[in-house]
Order: sequence, then structure tokens, then C-alpha cells
Amino acid sequence: MATLAEAAVAILATADPIAKARLSRDTAAAWRSGAIAEIGSATPPDRPGRPDRPALLPPAQVKRRKISAAPAGRIALLHALAHIELNAIDLAWDIAARFCQSGLPRGFFEDWVAVGDDESRHFLLLCDRLAALGAGYGDLPAHDGLWEASQSTAHDLMARLALVPLVLEARGLDVTPAMVAKLHAAGDDESAAALQIIHDDEITHVATGRRWFEWEAARQGLEPVAAYHTLVRRYFRGPLKRPFNTASRDKAGFKAAYYEPLASEDLA
Ligand SMILES: [Fe+2]
Ligand SMILES: [Fe+2]
Repeated sequence: MATLAEAAVAILATADPIAKARLSRDTAAAWRSGAIAEIGSATPPDRPGRPDRPALLPPAQVKRRKISAAPAGRIALLHALAHIELNAIDLAWDIAARFCQSGLPRGFFEDWVAVGDDESRHFLLLCDRLAALGAGYGDLPAHDGLWEASQSTAHDLMARLALVPLVLEARGLDVTPAMVAKLHAAGDDESAAALQIIHDDEITHVATGRRWFEWEAARQGLEPVAAYHTLVRRYFRGPLKRPFNTASRDKAGFKAAYYEPLASEDLA
């Protein structure tokens, strides 16, 4: 059996999205059962395998549509979220493979395997919702902004944790409740339920990111809140957007002292 790092690289290299998600779930199960026991080492690719569709466009060119009883807006939303989850699968396995030689304890790998498993479950759940609406992942263009955060922070574990779980995934906690409400209002309770599951799981991902960020800060003798401010200012363009979902961020143990000083001035 491959090592965990080799299995992570195999997931990253898989281009077919459904095959990637299934391999991710199978790998997590193999880790839990002990069939994969060694962390090992392997080099993750600069870019993960991706299918020919969807076409990847600059973020500004990806159309937004209104969420309504007509399916087009809901399909666009679910498709955009499926694309985020597909990236999230790769980001979880990338952090496990990339930092396999960094002297991190086994619990670190344990946690990111669980995140990778969750992200693949989320992707497949959204694919099911798209199928129920007569659509599928790849039908619409998507944007390629997410992988940039990964590439720019590939050399630095604290930068990666600051940007991915503690900016991008935390932002997901902020915006999801309004999407759930809109889906209910449009009469799509199934899609609303899927997004609620995702939101609740993402709290644990932010908590995982926060815990390992603080662990690594302690190892390096850094004050974590100040280190977060420095890293987000260096690697993230612009201020963090309000409003924050303080209740969900609190559940992740992610306190306002981290993000409030980096927020935009507008209270919208
Ligand atoms: Fe997710
Ligand atoms: Fe996540």
C-alpha cells in the first residue's frame, strides 16, 4: 500500500472530478482502517489534475444569477460551490503532502485527511443536487482564483493556514447562511439542506486551521494573532469583507482579534 503522501499526490493528479472525489474518500477510509499507516513523502504537483470542462475564466467574467424558483440561478450557485469544493479537495491533500517532511505530529495529517474526506463528500453532494436540477459539474465556466492562494503560500505552512482555512474557508462561513435562506425562499429545501451540512462541516475546517496555525506559531515562538495579521496583509489582496459570521467563527475558536483589525471599513 502507498504511503499517505503518495496517495495524496495520486488524488491531486487525478483529472476526472468524480474519480478524484471517490479516490479521496477511499484514501481517507484506508487511512482510518490502518491500510495506509505511513505518512511517507512525495512531491505534490504545482497544479492539480483538472478536467477539460469547466472552462476557467478570470473571476470578473463569471456571471452571477439571481436565486429563484427558475433553476438557472440555483444551478449557477451550486456549480460555483461545487468548483470551490473540488479545489478544497486538492487543497486538503496538498497541505498533507506538501508539509509531510516538516516535523508535524501525526494528528496534523489525521486532521487534513478528515478535511479531504469532507470536501469530497461536499463535492459529491453538490453534484447530486446539480443532477437533480438536470445539470452537472463542467456545464458552466468557473474561476481559477482559488488555486492562486495555494501556489503563493506553497513554501510556508503558516501562510497557507492563514490564507486557506482562516481567510477563504472562514469567508464561506460568512456567506453560506444567506444562500441557505435564499434557497429555502426559492422552494429548494434539498439544496438548502446540502449547504447547511457543508456550513456545519466547514466550522470544523476553520477550527482545524486555527489549531494548527496556533501550534505552528508556538513552535516558531510567534504570537499567533500578530503573525496572522502580517501573513494576511502579505498574501491576501485587500481587506477582509464584512459582515462576519461571528457565531460560526466563535464555534471554530477563531476569535475576532484575528480578523476584525483586517476588515473593511464599510459595515455593509
Ligand atoms: Fe467543503
Ligand atoms: Fe472546507
